[in-house]
Amino acid sequence: MDLRILSQSDLSAIMQIETALFGSEAWSEETMSSELITPHSYYIGVFDPSLVGYAGLRLAPADFAADVLTIGVAASKQGKGIGRRLMDALLLHAKRQGAEQVFLEVKESNASAISLYKSLGFEQIDLRKRYYQPSGENAVVMKLVIQQPIVLGIESSCDETGVGIVRGNRLLANALHSSMTEHAKYGGVVPEVAARAHLEALSPTLGQALLDAGIKIEQVDAIAVANGPGLAGALMVGIGAAKGLAVATNKPIYAVNHLVGHIGADVLEKGSVELPTIALLVSGGHTSLLLVRDLLDDVVLLGETIDDAAGEAFDKVARLLGLPYPGGPQIDKQAATGDPKAIKFPRGLMLPKDLAEHKYNFSFSGLKTAVARYVEKAELEGTEISKADVAASFREAVIDVLLTKAIWACEEYKIPRLLLGGGVVANARLRDEAQRRCDAAGIELRIPRFSLCTDNGAMIAALGAQLVMAGRKPSGLGFGAESTLSVTTIQTP
Ligand code: KG4
Ligand code: ZN
Repeated sequence: MDLRILSQSDLSAIMQIETALFGSEAWSEETMSSELITPHSYYIGVFDPSLVGYAGLRLAPADFAADVLTIGVAASKQGKGIGRRLMDALLLHAKRQGAEQVFLEVKESNASAISLYKSLGFEQIDLRKRYYQPSGENAVVMKLVIQQPIVLGIESSCDETGVGIVRGNRLLANALHSSMTEHAKYGGVVPEVAARAHLEALSPTLGQALLDAGIKIEQVDAIAVANGPGLAGALMVGIGAAKGLAVATNKPIYAVNHLVGHIGADVLEKGSVELPTIALLVSGGHTSLLLVRDLLDDVVLLGETIDDAAGEAFDKVARLLGLPYPGGPQIDKQAATGDPKAIKFPRGLMLPKDLAEHKYNFSFSGLKTAVARYVEKAELEGTEISKADVAASFREAVIDVLLTKAIWACEEYKIPRLLLGGGVVANARLRDEAQRRCDAAGIELRIPRFSLCTDNGAMIAALGAQLVMAGRKPSGLGFGAESTLSVTTIQTP
């Protein structure tokens, strides 16, 4: 007997069993057909060799809940454990998708089904009189509570020390300590300073996260840690802490990819991550365009920066204009009163000759140089520049390239969904323009709340929880910091 996901091509086989079992109370073919394709629905069948049973579930991710909508086993095949097999598969799916509660209704007269559900852990929570029509039979409403894993995630790849705690897809805590101000006098993140700051911040940030979540370390089911990409010395501090915690408390440990963590963060917003999606990650450390078909198994790097990261470009241009670090907010403030069309700055890797090899890659160093030239020229000529116009024109050039390429990717891969992540997402102009262009192109734009966009521990915990819920094996203790870890390595074994 085989179990597989049902599709429209199974419709007539499903309807044969459905009408034989439920007669006048059977769903119509139309209803069944639309149920099969409704978002968040999951229909499976058992084949022996033709269809002998089917069941369907609908997730309500925002409520961390799921409903068993239907289950049917052909009369001649009942009593062979097929119903249990179907229910096991539905419940596994619900669990892996982060459901904390599963609901179902069953006819009061169906004693064998009720006893099956009770054996799976369901309890009666209500009795609905005359629920089934036209028979007028009562429905027993039952509920199963699923304990989702509590995962603690540690992030230390750059200048933020983050400790987050999740339960399944639910955010419990997102404690953060940033060493940004310590880097300000150097105009950028200094790796040694960042590593030392992590060392000092880790213990208090961990304490804060546990306090915010209202749990004790013993209650955590697994530890997750970002082991790359990022600054090696900084990553090592988080990894050392995570390993120490895991060994001391005898918990499994998951070494996860920081970049994929940025995408996983969206799980905490809606209770699920909507896939497939194109993801654009823009921060001081990365500018990456990703194609994500499956968070745990199928993340493809479409392109990335070949020189400076987008945030780094903001920081460097701010310095050219005599503005303090971090440059993004400073440029933003200046740009507010500037004219984005005042100066024609170059768009990196957008020329036809670049596109063959670099369609989805980015380059901001030419833009930075163009700003430098512009400022130098004005100084030589003794003319006053308008910082506002330079900032606005520079910002526009960055945003234009980022969004043009992101939307190309959505179109080329026929994925009408774009997820943004990284510190540069703080840029309101980027967000507004992304919304405008996505609306025009019929693309759904997803932007997690800002505290989940910038580097944080909760996103690492969320990705770790996805791995735990999917039943993945923990990582061994042998993993180390991988400063150039590829996005295809979602978990280091
Ligand atoms: O993700 P993030 O907090 O940290 C790392 O890169 O590790 O991103 C920080 C970057 C900095 O380069 C900063 O200049 C940039 O995000 N940023 C902005 C804005 N706010 C922060 N860039 C553009 N516009 C902003 N409003
Ligand atoms: Zn990041």
